[in-house]
Amino acid sequence: MTERPIPIVKVRMPPRESLLPALERILYGGMIGEGEEVYALEREFAARFGLPNALAVSSGTGALHLAFLACGVRPGDAVVTTAMTAEPTNTTILQVGAYPVFADVEPDTGNLDPDAVARAITPATKAICVVHYAGYPADVHALREIADQHGIALIEDCAHALGASDAETAIGTVGDAAIFSFQAIKHMTTADGGLLTLKNPQMLNTARQLRWFGLSKGVPRTEVDIKTAGFKYNMNNVTAAIGRQQLLTIDDAVMRHIENGKYFDEVFNNMAGIRPARVRKNSNPSYWLYTLLCDDSHRIEQALVSAGVAASKVHRPNHLHSVFAPYATAMPGLSAFYNRLLHLPCGWWVTDQDRERIVAIVADAAK
Ligand SMILES: Cc1ncc(COP(=O)(O)O)c(C=O)c1O
Repeated sequence: MTERPIPIVKVRMPPRESLLPALERILYGGMIGEGEEVYALEREFAARFGLPNALAVSSGTGALHLAFLACGVRPGDAVVTTAMTAEPTNTTILQVGAYPVFADVEPDTGNLDPDAVARAITPATKAICVVHYAGYPADVHALREIADQHGIALIEDCAHALGASDAETAIGTVGDAAIFSFQAIKHMTTADGGLLTLKNPQMLNTARQLRWFGLSKGVPRTEVDIKTAGFKYNMNNVTAAIGRQQLLTIDDAVMRHIENGKYFDEVFNNMAGIRPARVRKNSNPSYWLYTLLCDDSHRIEQALVSAGVAASKVHRPNHLHSVFAPYATAMPGLSAFYNRLLHLPCGWWVTDQDRERIVAIVADAAK
């Protein structure tokens, strides 16, 4: 008997019975653009995840672009960042005309190493961008201190980390700005979408205008004056309706990621040839992907893939792309992490039987 494939990511849609009436209400309600449904999602999301405010946008990438601009990153500035991430973290730095300075990551978490970040700062540095990679909280408090010492901004890329927390602080609340992604395969999706939160009300106002061409919404179009050219990064009521329905069941989904992640942490902790990624003390990952570190990651990947389990490294370290080659630098921590890295499926769709099957395959291949 062939066993069912286990994907590494999966689209989570709310039940038809609740989603379709909610969508129908918006689709035939006369207002499908940015409106009350978007603002309701912003309020509900901010309340649920302990954020000071929220600006819903068309993608996590758009949210990052706005975050860098609102935090004052301009052409020629440097942003200290990680190469161990999905590409938009760093393409958006280039998009504002700034350049990435890749700081090394911790070999046992894949997250930015605060000491390496401190060493990478120069007078040209305008911001630090930290990613909570795969849903494991990075040391944001140490990074906050470094940013404050230098009077620069801290931007949190929480695209993988919805529902995670660090030392009792909700993810996304330590940085000057934080972004979330509602792309198809994240903990929560609006098909495509994203969200930005900013501590400073003035920056929030800047970002809100840049989200909509540089215009102030609510001011008659004949009287409004664009001072800075903005973008069309708004979320619309249709995708916001999906988001509001997603929020109704997000707790169960995130909880299952966490249950599976903790199960793997416990089982893999005692197996020769492999180690779970380190979970920082007092932090609670939301395990978008499970991060396993293996003496022979290739062999374990092969064993899982040939049994129908979509394990992989998922991302390419960004400095290996041609576009980032000019900024490449030696990163021994990243090399050590990446050589040993294998991401395992760990989300809401992974059943008790699935995870036992994954463990049995890993145990066998790691022998
Ligand atoms: C770490 C990280 N940052 C930013 C993004 C961008 O999000 P989006 O796909 O919603 O534009 C992603 C998504 O791929 C991501 O994984």
